[in-house]
Amino acid sequence: MNIKKIVVAYDGSTQSKKALDWAIAMGSADTEIIAVTVVRPPEFSPMVSEVDEFYADAERFYQPMLEKVRIYGKSNNKEIKTLILHGHPAESIVHFAYEQKADLIITGTRGLGGFKSLVIGSVAQKVVSYSKIPVLVVKE
Ligand SMILES: Nc1ncnc2c1ncn2[C@@H]1O[C@H](COP(=O)(O)OP(=O)(O)OP(=O)(O)O)[C@@H](O)[C@H]1O
Ligand SMILES: [Mg+2]
Repeated sequence: MNIKKIVVAYDGSTQSKKALDWAIAMGSADTEIIAVTVVRPPEFSPMVSEVDEFYADAERFYQPMLEKVRIYGKSNNKEIKTLILHGHPAESIVHFAYEQKADLIITGTRGLGGFKSLVIGSVAQKVVSYSKIPVLVVKE
């Protein structure tokens, strides 16, 4: 089977870096890898201008992280595309992967937050539940 496109759910955690490594390892030379970071909408009820500001702040925060991802790709002879989406992480990742007609989604088991006693984080769990395309959940 030819894996042409892989979507990696990337939140900057160690596990999501492992997910990137798997994408690099699994693809062939012409496999497209897209690392996606989802910024959740603010939980308070802000004014529209505040929402814009919130996402602009998030953009400033995440761009350097994603720049590192692109550089990491180059050092492995891979072009990794990066993208920031706004919304709920699991839904956004699955929706984007469908839109892109991706062959595979890769996530880590755990991410940046949550209760470390849980085996699998809520985002990874939801991606597995919602997705109709194969999902690889990378263990630590
Ligand atoms: N905002 C996000 N954008 C992109 N990918 C994400 C995001 N959040 C999580 N992921 C992906 O999901 C994997 C598992 O993280 P998850 O968020 O499910 O666990 P957690 O942070 O430990 O717990 P929780 O978020 O449920 O409190 C991460 O390694 C990453 O691949
Ligand atoms: Mg999380």
